[in-house]
Amino acid sequence: MKIEYFPEDLQEFLVPSPAGGLGYNCLKCGKIHPPKKLYYTCPDCGGLLLLEDAREDRLKERPGKFWRRLFDYRRMLNLQPLRGIFTFHEFLAPLIPVEDIVYLGEGHTPLVAAPEDLSREVGATLFIKHDGQNPSASFKDRGMAAALSYLKYIIRTQNLSDVLAVCASTGDTSAAAALYSAALGSQIKSAVLLPKGKVTLPQLSQPLGAGAKVFELPGVFDDCMKVVEYLSDHYEVALLNSKNPWRVLGQESYAYELAQQFDYELGDLALFVPVGNAGNITAIMSGLMKMKRYGVIETLPKIVAVQSSHADPVFRYYSQLESDRVYKPVTVRPSVAQAAMIGDPVSFPRVQKMVEEYNKAAEEGRFFAVQVREQAIMDNMIAVNRSGLTVCTQGGEGVAGVREALKLGILAHGDKAVVDSTAHALKFAEFQSAYFEDKLDEGYEVRAKAELVNRPVDISPAGVPLPAAGETQSPEDRAAYVSAAASDIANALGLKAR
Ligand code: F0G
Repeated sequence: MKIEYFPEDLQEFLVPSPAGGLGYNCLKCGKIHPPKKLYYTCPDCGGLLLLEDAREDRLKERPGKFWRRLFDYRRMLNLQPLRGIFTFHEFLAPLIPVEDIVYLGEGHTPLVAAPEDLSREVGATLFIKHDGQNPSASFKDRGMAAALSYLKYIIRTQNLSDVLAVCASTGDTSAAAALYSAALGSQIKSAVLLPKGKVTLPQLSQPLGAGAKVFELPGVFDDCMKVVEYLSDHYEVALLNSKNPWRVLGQESYAYELAQQFDYELGDLALFVPVGNAGNITAIMSGLMKMKRYGVIETLPKIVAVQSSHADPVFRYYSQLESDRVYKPVTVRPSVAQAAMIGDPVSFPRVQKMVEEYNKAAEEGRFFAVQVREQAIMDNMIAVNRSGLTVCTQGGEGVAGVREALKLGILAHGDKAVVDSTAHALKFAEFQSAYFEDKLDEGYEVRAKAELVNRPVDISPAGVPLPAAGETQSPEDRAAYVSAAASDIANALGLKAR
């Protein structure tokens, strides 16, 4: 919509100018560093960073209704940089000029209410937010759009060149990093480190296709993460893992969008988030709390971290009594929610801080962590995919989490639950195929349930000439084959002849 068609009182605010007092806040020593350089850790003490706006009071000066109206109207503005996560520019990364925003179509992913049958079967009023419908087919594009926009901004303003972006990944961060780096053309090259054999084929093909240098390393993600941390400590590289706090900022957009999609009424919802390196859940809680501080939402939703029993350090921490909680990394076992198969999440200190603040802001315990079995992850992924929706294995983990939360009384029957389907189902289709063939390695501890299995039926009628690629059948052979094949299919389907 053209600017002149918007309400007059909003027109001057539709296209934001750089503002705010964003700075790196060290979670360890408490120092604040100006955002002139890309830091991943505190340059003084090595602590983990979060980007915070020291001048956020300016946002509180306007009523929540102002922001709600502005963001809702801004969705109609056809200015590409503001179509995605930067619809929420003022809350997200207000220092980045609109001209530097990298937009590849990320954000504004559909929120879909589950068909009634599925909701009834699960026992909750279920919604899926399809974050697999981002450009690289996972939620990581949200964080990458923020990180690469910031990089573009400092490359331009500081005349930087030969930037090498690196990340370690379970497959989705690397796809997003390679894609967004490629969008910056010759300004930036990218390299990704993957645990060999622990990412799916589509995930491996994504960074290769985007022209990144791909390194496959032994071990699991946690081992790759250590190597990439060493690289970023000792060499001139731009780290694109969620240790990079710009990534976390971008992923806050999930919370802003969800609020918008529920008309800013989130109090009766429970959000289910599959947790791996813990960047996403950090970002979602941070975004929700910002909206509450700025009067944009009144009540914080419940938030439920979901982990597989094969990779559950966050669940284990929160299942201990509050007084004697000790954080311990775990050694992961094979998980079908492979993208979240992480034993030592980099963002764990952020989660601790956010959970404390979240429960305080909500004035009651609104954060929960649940653990689910591998079998439940696969069964739920397949059950959802048979219902008209599509989820990846991590989405299946989220739905399994809803069932677990109902069992534990975190949710009451019929309550609203929103599952973050973090990646596209097709990225993880090989787990579905292995399930259907009942061939998942023993380590996964998953066996196919007959009622969920679906396999192709081979049609190769006996006694007639079969067609073959590159050959043309005679009309008689073709007619004989067609009627025999149709008859086999009709038998298989139990069809009645006309
Ligand atoms: N779901 C998917 C599809 C993921 O790719 C990841 C993380 C998660 C959930 C967990 O999110 O790490 O923010 O807690 N994947 C990372 C990667 C680690 O390298 O792609 P998290």
